Amino acid sequence: MATDSQFDALRQLKEKAKLGGGLDRIAAHHKRGRLTARERLDLLLDKGSFREVDAFVTHRTTDFGLSQQQYLADSVVTGWGTVAGRLTFVFSQDFTVFGGSLGEVHSEKICKIMDMAMKSGAPVIGLNDSGGARIQEGVVSLGGYADIFLRNTLASGVIPQISAIMGPCAGGAVYSPALTDFIFMVKNSSYMFVTGPDVVKSVTHEDVTFEDLGGAGVHSETSGVCHYVAENEADALYLIRKLLAYLPQNNMEDPPFVPTSDDPLRTEAVLDTLIPDNPNKPYDMKDVIRLVVDDGDFFEIHERYATNIVVGFARLGGHTVGLIANQPAVLAGVLDINASEKAARFIRFCDCFNIPLVTFEDVPGFMPGTAQERGGIIRSGAKLLYAYCEATVPKLTVITRKAYGGAYDVMSPKHIRGDLNLAWPTAEIAVMGPDGAVNIIFRKEIAEAEDPVARKAELVREYREKFANPYVAASRGYVDDVIEPHETRARLINGLEMLQNKRDSNPQKKHGNIPL
Ligand code: HXC
Repeated sequence: MATDSQFDALRQLKEKAKLGGGLDRIAAHHKRGRLTARERLDLLLDKGSFREVDAFVTHRTTDFGLSQQQYLADSVVTGWGTVAGRLTFVFSQDFTVFGGSLGEVHSEKICKIMDMAMKSGAPVIGLNDSGGARIQEGVVSLGGYADIFLRNTLASGVIPQISAIMGPCAGGAVYSPALTDFIFMVKNSSYMFVTGPDVVKSVTHEDVTFEDLGGAGVHSETSGVCHYVAENEADALYLIRKLLAYLPQNNMEDPPFVPTSDDPLRTEAVLDTLIPDNPNKPYDMKDVIRLVVDDGDFFEIHERYATNIVVGFARLGGHTVGLIANQPAVLAGVLDINASEKAARFIRFCDCFNIPLVTFEDVPGFMPGTAQERGGIIRSGAKLLYAYCEATVPKLTVITRKAYGGAYDVMSPKHIRGDLNLAWPTAEIAVMGPDGAVNIIFRKEIAEAEDPVARKAELVREYREKFANPYVAASRGYVDDVIEPHETRARLINGLEMLQNKRDSNPQKKHGNIPL
């Protein structure tokens, strides 16, 4: 039988581990408005569900006087718990111990958790707050990072991996998150950069702040590295819980079904008048999404990046769906490099995790211009095409207005295994818009006309009547049905149910070669 003193010793050790780098460092951390690694886990996981492993681990380094600085659990807290009752593996880096930097045992602890998550088929959530490779441990730290990168890659598409950036993250501390599925950042207190402002100054002589180099604004709007910006740490952790509710535990499961009181047959008369009479006038595709999905609840991903396309999760009749929607309110919904890559990555995530794709299409084509051509719009557009072609989950599309040119071919048409392709009566499905088409095919005729302006207007009208509608495509079976907009929700839910047992697969291969 264990003695009281043995119990006391154990409890003292566990209490000591909870103090991380010590009370002073915790106070300094709090003073910066940040929570500790353990406080963050308390907010992320269901109350009382966290089970820690490796609290007794300490580093093995003696160089640089490190043998005098031992901290129980080293600089990362690891274990598992539940989120809404579902098993979730976690690691939370402790900035109060060597700045959360990653050495040998820190890496071993994370790898252990990732291996357990893979065996158990459950998500891994990483709360990152780290100065990167632990300088004192040299190449051993680099090896430790590489061990994690390998696991991130092998786990990709098997279990969801979500990263929250909770402080200044540098070097290796940004590459592991970059290999995961979603990155959350916190406004004004989290940063991601390969090298910090000091190194930037010494190499390129640029003066740059933390915020301008790698703040949440930069990564959510310009680089696209970050998928979600939270107002504060608690908000970030709440949002991760919300995201997890849409996802299956692993690639062998379906996403959770969430019964809803929202009538699957609900009609929305507003949709019948939503498309402006003038085809060049914008409208907000997010209105369409909110009117159609369960309870108007849309969890948008990458909200601030490439806003000419909208992606995110919602439910239809209780089933999780991944929504991809051209946004006519921004750049007329045109597809450019960033929009193509944003959507392609999202589609591939959904396909990995058995999440049906619902596409709302209103796209005038690919963005023309030297900047886009030189930037590689051909390669980026091909990524989107590849992602849609490769996906075997149920694919449902609603063409609300424009489906012109290459964009028609890209946005999940029947030809690339679209399962249910619907169009509203306002759909315009053709090689190009009336104005451009008439300019090309009737150039001579217009030039030679007595009144070129009147002749062109007449030809545009004729073209619009003949081609800028859904019926040419419908007559060939390229769209399965032309529907009244108010019935969109009911038709999509019916389609999802019809496709519930869909089976499709790609040829056996090691892996394809997406145009990266
Ligand atoms: C060891 C580190 C550390 C590191 C910080 N600390 N980074 N210890 N290795 N990489 C320690 C500090 O010595 C300090 O210890 C404590 O953490 C807090 O650090 P501060 O600098 O006081 O905090 P702050 O001012 O908030 O700055 C945070 C920071 C900065 C921006 C992260 O510390 C920094 O720039 N660190 C180095 C970043 C970096 O270049 N890392 C290596 C990347 S190379 P005390 O004892 O005072 O509390 C890499 C290779 C992987 O990661 C490549 C993969 C592809």
